[in-house]
Amino acid sequence: MSAEPEQMPGATLVIFGASGDLTRRLLMPALANLLREDLLGEELHILGVACEDLDDEELRARLDEFVGPAPPGWERLRRRITYLKGAFEDDALYRAIGDRLDAECNAAFYLATPPEYFGTIVEKMAGAHLLEEKSGFRRMLVEKPLGHDLASARVLNKCILSRVGERQVYRIDHFLGKETVQNILVARFANPMIEAVWNNRYVDHVQITAAETVGIGRRGKFYDATGAMRDMVPNHLFQLLAMVGMEPPNSFAADAIGTEKTKVITAIRALTSKAVETDVVRGQYTAGCIDEDLCPAYAEEPDVDPMTRTETYVAIKLWLDTWRWSGVPFYLRTGKAMAARETEIVLQFKPVPRALFAHSNVTHLPANRLVIHIQPDEGLKFDFLAKLPGPVIDTAPVSMNFRYADRFTLPKLTGYETLLYDLMIGDQTLFQSAEAIEAGWAAVQPILDAWSRDNGHPQIYRAGSDGPVAAEALIQRDGRTWHALRT
Ligand code: BG6
Repeated sequence: MSAEPEQMPGATLVIFGASGDLTRRLLMPALANLLREDLLGEELHILGVACEDLDDEELRARLDEFVGPAPPGWERLRRRITYLKGAFEDDALYRAIGDRLDAECNAAFYLATPPEYFGTIVEKMAGAHLLEEKSGFRRMLVEKPLGHDLASARVLNKCILSRVGERQVYRIDHFLGKETVQNILVARFANPMIEAVWNNRYVDHVQITAAETVGIGRRGKFYDATGAMRDMVPNHLFQLLAMVGMEPPNSFAADAIGTEKTKVITAIRALTSKAVETDVVRGQYTAGCIDEDLCPAYAEEPDVDPMTRTETYVAIKLWLDTWRWSGVPFYLRTGKAMAARETEIVLQFKPVPRALFAHSNVTHLPANRLVIHIQPDEGLKFDFLAKLPGPVIDTAPVSMNFRYADRFTLPKLTGYETLLYDLMIGDQTLFQSAEAIEAGWAAVQPILDAWSRDNGHPQIYRAGSDGPVAAEALIQRDGRTWHALRT
């Protein structure tokens, strides 16, 4: 993470898949936001590559509407956007890209394509010497899904790293672009009061939730072959887990943070087949109402196999075999079509001894809780107990609530701003190493294996609910409950 924001160095950003959704919905708005912040510089060129029949002006016109109100300088940047048509398998495309790039120039290649093209594109780029660094940098950026299980992730990493050095590869997990995710490090390591209790001596358990109200919409084809586990757990949820679980790094340097995060993911205790049965719940939504809108059953969504057994919800209980977290369970859950949109981390603290209150009116001492709201309402909340005013000893639950929006002006960002900026200035702090990706897949592989042997159907939950009943049971067996969504 850089100390002083500086303008990006002059470079060409080559976007494979420039006519696609990712480019329009996320990359262009992010570039426009960077332009607004005056971080883009005058020397950024964008070369869009795709197989559609477009010319420069048509691509620019398509991107215009996703930029929002044009920031100052947009017209000038717009003129530096060009388009190249070609098939990703075709060597001629890579020769043509080479012709457009000065051999000495800085270039970053963004693979905004379906993942099945990653291997081919890397090989062809290497074959055309596009990845060789002469005086300028050559970097490539890939985004999940990086593999669909441990074996395929290993193959992909091997293929990439046989052509390009780890220092040149930027593996995105867009959760790391979220301000509040980065704030976990500051909350922990800039505040001794927080870090002092951040361990198994005080923490009873941790909950990590990524609940979404949206169903599958038009993503049925991708999603039915993927499911909630692959889509969210080894990547986004484990990134949050790593931020919570890591030891203090020596600095904010990419290597220092990366090492500590990878240690957490490799410390996830391997689930036995028995533990997969008891500690993992997979669910699938059936028809219901979300915010008064009807949501069809997952099996009836477009491009979904009507007999589908793909999960749209997962809950898992995990253990980290580290000194700090020994004996502290981590409960993770994520789902589509749920009652509320909420991504949050909850640290629930251990109860105090009851003896002092034994002869008072106090019958129940709710636990202290620190809730890190990642989205949509970013902030940090501490639930604790205060004395109920009056002549006798009694308690009342109260909260201290810090909301980002109350204190700071939050520009509406996509999360890709920081990631694109860091790519260009060469900061890998918010990106993932090959080792971390493989460690994530290794941790979920026992679950994927058990599910592939099992012919059962996921547990049903109603769209617009909090998830399957079995997920409630998973945590209640331990005498605990999920943190209520929408609080
Ligand atoms: C993506 C998943 O990586 O993350 C989606 O493929 C999911 O299924 C999305 O909806 C969630 O991201 P965010 O930033 O909207 O919470």
